[in-house]
Amino acid sequence: MYAVARRKQAKTLLTIAFGVLAALVITALLSSHPVRTEPVEATAPAESETRTSEPTSTPNPFGADFEQLSDWRLVLVNDKVPLPENYEMTPRLYSNIQVNFKIYDELCMLLDDAYAAHVSLWLASGYRSVEDQEEILENAVQNRMRDGLTREDAYENARLTIQEPGHSEHHTGLAVDFNDVSSDFRNTEAYAWLQKNAAKYGFVERYPEDKVDITGIDYESWHYRYVGREHAEAMQSLNMCLEEYVLYLKGQS
Ligand code: DAL
Ligand code: ZN
Repeated sequence: MYAVARRKQAKTLLTIAFGVLAALVITALLSSHPVRTEPVEATAPAESETRTSEPTSTPNPFGADFEQLSDWRLVLVNDKVPLPENYEMTPRLYSNIQVNFKIYDELCMLLDDAYAAHVSLWLASGYRSVEDQEEILENAVQNRMRDGLTREDAYENARLTIQEPGHSEHHTGLAVDFNDVSSDFRNTEAYAWLQKNAAKYGFVERYPEDKVDITGIDYESWHYRYVGREHAEAMQSLNMCLEEYVLYLKGQS
C-alpha cells in the first residue's frame, strides 16, 4: 500500500513537472511568434508610391478658348474652330458667285492674269451660308448612301472634304473653289499656274496633300484661301498651312 502511494505520488509529480514544462514551452513559443488577434489594417503606402503621374493630355490649341488673330485675313475656321459669332461679311458678286468684297480686286487680277496667260481657270464657288453648307453636306451624304453606304459611313466619308455647317471657311467669303472642284484639277495647267502665282495675289492652297493631319481635310487641289500677299508668301516659304501659321504667329508652335 505504501509502495502504491509512493508510485502515485511520483506519477503526480511527473504530471505536474510535465505540465509546467509544457506551459514554459508554449509561453516561449508564443512570445517569439506573437499572434495578432486584432484585424491588421493595411499600412498606407508613402505618398510618393500612391501618386500616379497626372494624365498627360496635349492641350488643344484650337479648343474653346482659341482666340482669333486680329488680322481679318487670318481668320481661322476649321473642324474645331467655328465661324466667329460676330463675323461680318459684305459680299460682292463675281459673275454669279459671291465673295467677300475685301478679296474682290485681287481675285479679279488673278483670274484676269490667268486668262491673259491662256490658262483655263474659272471660279466655281465662293461664299456659302450655313444653310448652303448644310445642303452641300446632306447632298453628299445622300449620294454616298445611293452608292450603298450606311448613313453613318456616308457622313464619315463626306466629312473628309466637307466641313460641318458653321465650320466651313467658305462662310467667310475668303475661300474659293476653282474649275470643276475635282481631284483631277491637280493635273491641270491651271493648277500648276496657281501653284506658281496664287501667292502674289494673296491666295494659298488651303488643304495641301502633306497637311491632311493638321487641317483635318483631305487634299483639295481646287480650294484656295485668301490671306493677303505677305502672309501667302510667308506661308509658302515656311511650308505652313493656316493652322500652323496662325500658331506660329501666336508663338505657340
Ligand atoms: N470643302 C471645304 C473643306 C469646306 O467644306 O469648307
Ligand atoms: Zn472649297
